[in-house]
Amino acid sequence: MDHQQMALLHILSWSSAIILFVIAYVMIKQNKAEKPVKILQMVLRVLYIVIIATGADLFFRFYFGVQSGFFAESIVKVVAGVWVVAAFEMTLAKAKKGKKEFAAWLQLVFALIIVLALGFGRLPFGFLP
Ligand code: HEM
Repeated sequence: MDHQQMALLHILSWSSAIILFVIAYVMIKQNKAEKPVKILQMVLRVLYIVIIATGADLFFRFYFGVQSGFFAESIVKVVAGVWVVAAFEMTLAKAKKGKKEFAAWLQLVFALIIVLALGFGRLPFGFLP
């Protein structure tokens, strides 16, 4: 796979995860049956693996051991990317248990802003300019 296909797969996997995350969240809030929510969460976890695997691939292609001048920012991108995945998981877990969600949402929004700003706004490679 060339790097554009990899970046496209990266974008497709996290955008599908955002959509499925919202659907799962709304279903939890509407007290829908547990089983479909469980299945959605399983699909989401597969997507998390794809997100992390494609992200790691992009990192090793473009930044690891490469003189890009963006190594530090790429590390921040990787850490924030994993953080978004963790925050997805945390937010759904809190919602399911009926516990306070605010801290989880705050982390999700914060990490997502960092990751989108670096991914689209700052880092030089990938699919879109
Ligand atoms: C839900 C979580 C994530 C979101 C929303 C996200 C978002 C993005 C975006 C918007 C780009 C730019 C795509 C492009 O222009 O082609 C990108 C690229 C990238 N992502 Fe992610 N990402 C996430 C998770 C991760 C993870 C977990 C890793 C590492 C393990 C990672 C590593 C990278 C790398 C290395 C690039 C290439 C940067 C570049 O454009 O030069 N991402 N990501």
